Amino acid sequence: MDAYANIITMSIVIETHDLSREYKTYQKPEGVMNSLRGIFKREYNSKIALDKTTLTIESGKIIGLVGANGAGKTTLLKILSGLVTPTSGDARVLGFKPWERNYEFLRQISILLGQKNQLWWDISPVDSYALLARIYDLDVTAARKKVNDLAEMLQCAHVLNTQLRRLSLGERMKMEIIGALLHDPKILFLDEPTIGLDIVAQENIRNFLANYVKEKEPTVILTSHYMDDIATLADRLLLISKGNIVYQGTVDEFVLNSNSELAQDEKVDFEEVIRRFLETESRIR
Ligand SMILES: Nc1ncnc2c1ncn2[C@@H]1O[C@H](COP(=O)(O)OP(=O)(O)OP(=O)(O)O)[C@@H](O)[C@H]1O
Ligand SMILES: [Mg+2]
Repeated sequence: MDAYANIITMSIVIETHDLSREYKTYQKPEGVMNSLRGIFKREYNSKIALDKTTLTIESGKIIGLVGANGAGKTTLLKILSGLVTPTSGDARVLGFKPWERNYEFLRQISILLGQKNQLWWDISPVDSYALLARIYDLDVTAARKKVNDLAEMLQCAHVLNTQLRRLSLGERMKMEIIGALLHDPKILFLDEPTIGLDIVAQENIRNFLANYVKEKEPTVILTSHYMDDIATLADRLLLISKGNIVYQGTVDEFVLNSNSELAQDEKVDFEEVIRRFLETESRIR
């Protein structure tokens, strides 16, 4: 494809400008008297989880969002998917303000929170999918076929009819992934889709996602603390530190830049570069 064709097919699907989110949490004082006083005069702690983030993401790209615990990754994904409202700044996802939760917007995106169940706990995944198919107004037969195809690819068809709460973490994650993909989202926010899984299950999900994105070409923002997920899946890296994006670019460039000041025999790979970055972070936290 020549450069001009590249420009006209390229489209920006996510755009943020000075996007910020501050959380205020009530500090409950110690002791009964102080608690009573707290009824009239409350003390709050405030925390800037996301600090004036400006970024653009092109259609069809897989972005690896990496940062230490508490850096603001989940906050960013929650804002972009409409689960959390920003305190200031602006964002457009597929032309929508996510926090307005327009139905047309919600139909085109999906968020998977690896640390949280989103399917219904007391019913089987198959029943959850039937409900989701109604919510998204999908053709029932097509949705059923989609579930079966995805379950086959993820090698988990045998648990589709078991109550969610009776499944292992790995089985549940696969069920959540199917639920997140059921309506063919154009944009996929994956917050730690392999958290807590054994290495074979991690690889399984990683390979599945790699095939899925190749075939469907959604735009994906993926977070993970497993650098293999990022190195295998991501086209680009977004590095976040204390609510600030400190690097946007390719994984290769990032490794190259980080290695540029090191002697030939000291050069390190992606995982080690990230490890050193996080180590510095923890020292200055
Ligand atoms: N609902 C909330 N109320 C108060 N503070 C919050 C809330 N959610 C997040 N925070 C704070 O905002 C900061 C960013 O949190 P966030 O969950 O976005 O981090 P993260 O990068 O996803 O971390 P992790 O890798 O541990 O998942 C943290 O300091 C966290 O304590
Ligand atoms: Mg998180």
